[in-house]
Amino acid sequence: MSTNTTDNARKVTTRRLAEMKQRGEKISMLTAYDYSSAKIIDQAGIDVILVGDSASNVMAGNVTTLPITLDQMIYHGKSVMKGVNRALVVVDLPFGSYQGNPMEALASAIRIMKESHAEAVKIEGGSEIRESVERILSAGIPVMGHLGLTPQSINKFGTYAVRAREEEEARKLIADAKLLEELGCFAVVLEKIPADLARKVAEELTIPVIGIGAGGGCDGQVLVMHDMLGINQGFSPRFLRRYADVAGVMTDAVSRYIEDVKSGDFPNESESY
Ligand code: KIV
Repeated sequence: MSTNTTDNARKVTTRRLAEMKQRGEKISMLTAYDYSSAKIIDQAGIDVILVGDSASNVMAGNVTTLPITLDQMIYHGKSVMKGVNRALVVVDLPFGSYQGNPMEALASAIRIMKESHAEAVKIEGGSEIRESVERILSAGIPVMGHLGLTPQSINKFGTYAVRAREEEEARKLIADAKLLEELGCFAVVLEKIPADLARKVAEELTIPVIGIGAGGGCDGQVLVMHDMLGINQGFSPRFLRRYADVAGVMTDAVSRYIEDVKSGDFPNESESY
């Protein structure tokens, strides 16, 4: 096995994620939507960067993930790819770009790969989208599944509450996770489900299971970067750990800048030509 230093510099691939699961090394994943922040989190050593359709919320200010378009996801994916050397970059297939039929799903996934240069796509759902997953995989495009709370279906659920608490839904989730593995997905995200259920899925699957609000038994964790950095302050679910108060830092810096401009203190002589 290579040393940690060598490992930390090595490009992350879907194969490498499988190796990480095999040796019990947890996988770190965060969202990013732009060049500058993708570059920072890549250099910090994140394993996977998700260009999530949560861009609809945190970048565009929409209430749900539904309005974001395929063109917009490609724009974000392209920007992220320019800042990343090491992490595996996965782009979400947005609502309306794959549900119609498997050929539409394939065409959307191909556009993402060709135009953004990302390395994989993520898609929400289980048996309902089986043919679409098969089609995309048949083109050699790596697919990450997403089960549990699937925000693109918020209008069906009517709530962002924890999913799969009831036995029937839990059984379907396990069956869907196994199906996604059998089809050839390289990983599955489990969002907001009971920790015991997520642990069971992670134990039964050989592919990595990445959790968000799914407890510590998963093979890795994902958070939305704007939430964990405290940029997005209006969102405080139990599963979210805040690692910084970036909104506070920005507010302080901008307030001081405004004061300096108003008082004539900025720019001073050494800041002028
Ligand atoms: O879009 C997103 O950010 C996601 C994560 C919450 C997993 O799908």
